[in-house]
Amino acid sequence: MKHIKNLIIETERLVLVPITMAHAGPIFKEFTPEITALMYPKSPDHISETEKFITESIEKMDQWTNYQATILDKDNGEFIGCCGLHKIDTTAPEPGIRIRKSAHGKKLGREAVQWLTDRAQENLEFNYLFYPVDKDNIPSRKIAESLWWILQVDADGNEIVTICDTADPGRKFNGVEYRVYKKAST
Ligand SMILES: CC(C)(COP(=O)(O)OP(=O)(O)OC[C@H]1O[C@@H](n2cnc3c(N)ncnc32)[C@H](O)[C@@H]1OP(=O)(O)O)[C@@H](O)C(=O)NCCC(=O)NCCS
Repeated sequence: MKHIKNLIIETERLVLVPITMAHAGPIFKEFTPEITALMYPKSPDHISETEKFITESIEKMDQWTNYQATILDKDNGEFIGCCGLHKIDTTAPEPGIRIRKSAHGKKLGREAVQWLTDRAQENLEFNYLFYPVDKDNIPSRKIAESLWWILQVDADGNEIVTICDTADPGRKFNGVEYRVYKKAST
């Protein structure tokens, strides 16, 4: 298998390429407080924070602990967003997705996540993929539900809500959790 830092995933409309410093500008511009409001990362105040995120992401790819991709439009190379599969050295890797505001609502988020997780099913060993989501993040929850990921519920069938930390010490979110289990190989 090729090194994860060289992994390019082509979907119908998108191409997922390993993140590089060349993507710092659009990531910094597009990941505003509105985009990061319901997720773990905080919006960068300065482009140096985006550059640090990219440097760390590349280091983690070198160590095979993370796959961090930039999502580009397949036809014209335009920046669409970012997605990743984090903690790939554990039994419960974590998918992540962010789409730039002006590209929302075109099912691009679902397309990227579906292809990313299909590729993980084919190539990675894990127990389940772990997708923590703010309980009010409807588009993200709809992606998980349309892919038939399993919402974690208590004995009464109520969704389990956990207070989760974020990268911003002043901000927490009410997380629910979806799981997708590793398919048995045929
Ligand atoms: C979550 C996110 C990636 C979804 O991307 P997207 O490409 O706009 O989503 P899609 O077009 O694939 O739509 C997914 C579903 O959400 C619905 N949806 C999209 N925007 C919506 C909105 N504002 N309100 C309600 N539903 C919405 C779509 O109709 C679709 O539902 P359907 O399956 O019933 O048709 C995007 O909203 C985003 O980047 N949000 C900020 C970052 C974030 O929260 N990431 C996830 C952290 S867990």
